[in-house]
Amino acid sequence: MSKKITIAIDGFSSTGKSTLAKQLAKEIGYVYVDTGAMYRAVTFFAMQNGFVDNTKFDKESLINSLSHVNLKFVYNPDLGFGEMYLNDVNVEKEIRTIEVSNFVSKIAEVSQVRAKLVEQQKEMGKGKGIVMDGRDIGTVVFPDAELKIFMTASPEVRAKRRFDELKEKGQNVTFDEVLKNVQERDYIDTHREDSPLVKAIDAIEIDNSNLSREEQFQKVLQLAKITSKSL
Ligand code: DC
Repeated sequence: MSKKITIAIDGFSSTGKSTLAKQLAKEIGYVYVDTGAMYRAVTFFAMQNGFVDNTKFDKESLINSLSHVNLKFVYNPDLGFGEMYLNDVNVEKEIRTIEVSNFVSKIAEVSQVRAKLVEQQKEMGKGKGIVMDGRDIGTVVFPDAELKIFMTASPEVRAKRRFDELKEKGQNVTFDEVLKNVQERDYIDTHREDSPLVKAIDAIEIDNSNLSREEQFQKVLQLAKITSKSL
């Protein structure tokens, strides 16, 4: 790879963005940043403090407490990527539960939350050589990214993937529950007022409903190589 570039990977939930982004970053020696983990960590913070549950969402209290939310990624050499720390505690496991998934879109709608996280994400990408995945990376965080990928797949395919993942982790969920969560998040992510999920005009769309992980990886790797060489 000749010149360090910024790679933005956006798309619907459970399209395998983070698996692809992680693998790509490792292969080309770039830093990987999972922005979904940051929104999940703020959600976990809101749950811990009783700002959100099945009956209510106290948006004002969350906004007023945002200065007490300190997020950082700590590189884990065994895993080969940074793990999410909330106020100096590793929350990787806690932020992947179905409960966090159920509340996260609500939290991600709050403009003050987005502003705080976007600022931190821009800072992390200053030196380039970064692969960042999320919903608004190519549109808001890095509108000038040299390579933008937009990933899609049918809701059923995505729900099946997430269901298998959660089952493997021993979580007690049904397929219908996961499918409902995927569809609800799609709706909220694409309809929110602040930074809705949309494909950037210059993003390359990849529908991976019928692509293997390896096929998809090779495709994006080639794109990354071509883009960095052409600069
Ligand atoms: O990628 P994920 O499923 O872990 O993301 C969790 C949620 O966070 C998702 O429902 C939407 C939100 N999100 C966002 O609004 N903007 C981002 N850049 C990343 C995630």
